Amino acid sequence: MATVLSAGAAHADGDPAAGKRVFARCQSCHQVGEKARNLVGPELNGVIGRTSGTVAGYAYSPALKDAAITWDHDTIAAFVAKPQAVAKGTQMPPVPPLKPDDVDNLIAYLATFAADGGAAQ
Ligand code: HEC
Repeated sequence: MATVLSAGAAHADGDPAAGKRVFARCQSCHQVGEKARNLVGPELNGVIGRTSGTVAGYAYSPALKDAAITWDHDTIAAFVAKPQAVAKGTQMPPVPPLKPDDVDNLIAYLATFAADGGAAQ
């Protein structure tokens, strides 16, 4: 039986406002914005285009530190869906699956934060 993978060739531009609501599912462990701190998970300012395991002062698992993943739409979607499949041994627990639209919106929201927590561009 063939499995059809929806590759999502063109990623529709997400809606940051809707993405903010999706981020509510991450917020118990992750912060963004000018006052973002590392909580259970590292802060996610400027995460789009960032290399995994590189936030100063956050004690990553060796798994994520050594993974050298560049975080973008596809790698974040894959990681959130199945953290262990992307970085075996990571301490990030699986979160309830996000719909493709949720991922687009979430990425659009995260992309509004520069590395220093201010507005990107
Ligand atoms: C219950 C806590 C928890 C929740 C909820 C959670 N995460 Fe995480 N996340 C973590 C932890 C802990 C790590 C660090 C894992 C490690 O060091 O292996 C992490 C790491 C990450 C990283 C890697 C960051 C880096 O600097 O390399 C990304 C990206 C990420 N999470 C995205 C998300 C997104 C998006 C959501 C919401 C859909 C989410 N997480 C929800 C705990 C959580």
